[in-house]
Amino acid sequence: MNDTFLRACRGEKTEYTPVWFMRQAGRYLPEYQSVRGKVTFLELCHNPELCTEVTLQPIDIFGFDAAILFSDILIPMEAMNLHLEFSEGKGPVFRDPVRSRKAVDDLIVPDPDETMPFVMETIRLLRKELKVPLIGFSGAPFTLATYLVEGGSSKVFLETKKMMFQKPQLFDAMMSKITDCTSLYLQAQARAGAQALQIFDSWAGILAPVDFKRFALPYVQSIINDLRKVTDVPIIYFANNGATLLDLSKTSGADVLGLDWRVNIKDAIDRVGNHAVQGNLDPIALFLPKEELEERIKKLLDDAQGARGHIFNLGHGIVPQTPPDQAKIAVDAVHRFSGK
Ligand code: CP3
Repeated sequence: MNDTFLRACRGEKTEYTPVWFMRQAGRYLPEYQSVRGKVTFLELCHNPELCTEVTLQPIDIFGFDAAILFSDILIPMEAMNLHLEFSEGKGPVFRDPVRSRKAVDDLIVPDPDETMPFVMETIRLLRKELKVPLIGFSGAPFTLATYLVEGGSSKVFLETKKMMFQKPQLFDAMMSKITDCTSLYLQAQARAGAQALQIFDSWAGILAPVDFKRFALPYVQSIINDLRKVTDVPIIYFANNGATLLDLSKTSGADVLGLDWRVNIKDAIDRVGNHAVQGNLDPIALFLPKEELEERIKKLLDDAQGARGHIFNLGHGIVPQTPPDQAKIAVDAVHRFSGK
């Protein structure tokens, strides 16, 4: 197996810089669209054979150094007893947002092997096929909570912050259940064969540092603390838009900190010293002309020289409009410039 990615996560020396892209399996690929044309997104997530197929697509096409399990951060929320839909154009929708004591009490902390066997089966199928490491993942409790409380995507997160500020006990009760669910879910993924785990905190950056410290970070720390007792797989924590939170994020317990593109990678490395870092090309930089894209990648690799380990990635998910040829140029450039 090509374990370059895992070695970079652990801060060990690698011959070249490993690369994968967040959301690398998805709508920018005609091969994904073709599978997706036959089933709904949720049907796809529940089907291990199809999940395996779409996970492998970007590995075969681009030669990424790691695969990420195809699923969604909201899948365990179904197992918690919530009704989830993905509507065209609107994204995820929870029919009954969680805002009351009754709604929190009704949440179940599910057994992941019993309620999400399709995820564990996908992991087992993938491990048979893959020659690069497999990353499992979850949402971070705060990010999951925003979807539950808002009932879907949001801009100002009014309901979530209102619950934090007006009903902190209720918020904590909800967060404990989400945290327990996530902790068990990630442990089950590691048991099934996931070789690294990424925790996506996509909305961490909407919080003031003081609120991040009080309402988001402790739950991430608790999950990582639990994981450390049962597995030694590398753990990546990605707090999107989190440049101002880095000094707090580095206490999460993760081995690797994901960086979005708004922070200079060199400055970030100065601040998080003994962690490996993952990132952080602006996903829209993939639309640059070839020479400029390559120049940017070279500069990023140079800036990351001082890191304890660097995994090249985008600063957030690849956007559906990205031409696959541009993704190919980027992956090849990372490999070539870093000595593969
Ligand atoms: O390659 C991969 O990264 C694989 C799987 C993956 C998906 N979602 C597939 C997906 C992963 C790791 C995720 C994580 C995820 N899901 C996050 C965290 C990462 C981030 O982008 O911040 C979040 C916030 C979600 C929730 C979610 N899922 C939203 C808001 C949406 C709708 C918006 C959108 O991008 O479409 C989804 C749908 C989704 N998840 C799709 C895919 C491929 C598109 C669904 C489709 O095919 O129609």
